[in-house]
Amino acid sequence: MSTQELVLTGDRPTGPLHLGHYVGSLANRVALQETCKQFVMIADVQALTDNFENPAKVHENVFEVACDYLAVGIDPTKTTIFIQSMIPAIAELTIFYMNLVTVARVQRNPTVKTEIKQKGLEESLPVGFMMYPISQAADITAFKATLVPVGEDQLPMIEQTNEIVRSFNRIYNTDVLKEAKALVPKCARLAGIDGQAKMSKSLNNAIYLKDSADELVKKIQKMYTDPNHLRVQDPGKIEGNTVFEYLEVFAKDTAKVAELKAHYQRGGLGDMVVKKYLMEVLEEFLSPIRARRAEYASDRAQVMNMLYAGTQVANETASATLHEVKKAMQLIY
Ligand code: TRP
Repeated sequence: MSTQELVLTGDRPTGPLHLGHYVGSLANRVALQETCKQFVMIADVQALTDNFENPAKVHENVFEVACDYLAVGIDPTKTTIFIQSMIPAIAELTIFYMNLVTVARVQRNPTVKTEIKQKGLEESLPVGFMMYPISQAADITAFKATLVPVGEDQLPMIEQTNEIVRSFNRIYNTDVLKEAKALVPKCARLAGIDGQAKMSKSLNNAIYLKDSADELVKKIQKMYTDPNHLRVQDPGKIEGNTVFEYLEVFAKDTAKVAELKAHYQRGGLGDMVVKKYLMEVLEEFLSPIRARRAEYASDRAQVMNMLYAGTQVANETASATLHEVKKAMQLIY
């Protein structure tokens, strides 16, 4: 990845982050900060679009998500971490971009459509929720990001952003805004422990970065495997078997995973043996993260000061972009 890339990503603070977040984008961010200028945003304004009646939840999870970032190794000396609601330029850009997008177009956004269904918002859809892709375009363009590391469910957001960029630059005859590419990891999404296609807080099927060793064991114990693998001596299926899917992603000993797979498919290997191995693998992965996280979580002032400092830096960049945008729109008086 070249140093020229400008990276922006973020997460909604509606709960602590889980392994799906790690695989989907946290891992990429930890790598990208070594070569790119990177901004990571805690998207509290976006979180409110479907949690506006629950401000305390969003407030508390800003801190939780910040602790998760620090624990996985997003380093505030290399990455600017900031809070969305403290960047007024993002809100102003959103207003300007709203003119460039039709209602029909936001209604067609596949990510929004899925979420509306999932959250049962069909009958009482808040305008703010329906148009959050426009505010996400403001997030990305405020920093002139060229690269956005995200899970594959976010691809329609990047597409929508680039449409806005092209419309804006054409209509206002400028090249102020930059198009962005998505960076989707090899394993684009991690299944939930129940075998559903996506790990997510709202599906209640997540393993959190902050889960204790005990919670981890319990979750792996009830993890979805091959429902037809009833007796140890029977052959089992690997496809759709969540335990093997996780081993594929997290186990470093690929030879051992291959051997377990072959044995399982032949028959004679019980689910519990494979799960025990996954427990070891995930505990080895999570225990240092958990320890670092506990340290940060015990020093709230330090974490908040890091966020304030990042927000100040982010504000300078976003305000500068806003000024250029207003200039292109003949709004400087
Ligand atoms: N929509 C993202 C999510 O659901 C969070 C987000 C908000 C984001 N703004 C962003 C991601 C800008 C990438 C870039 O997790």
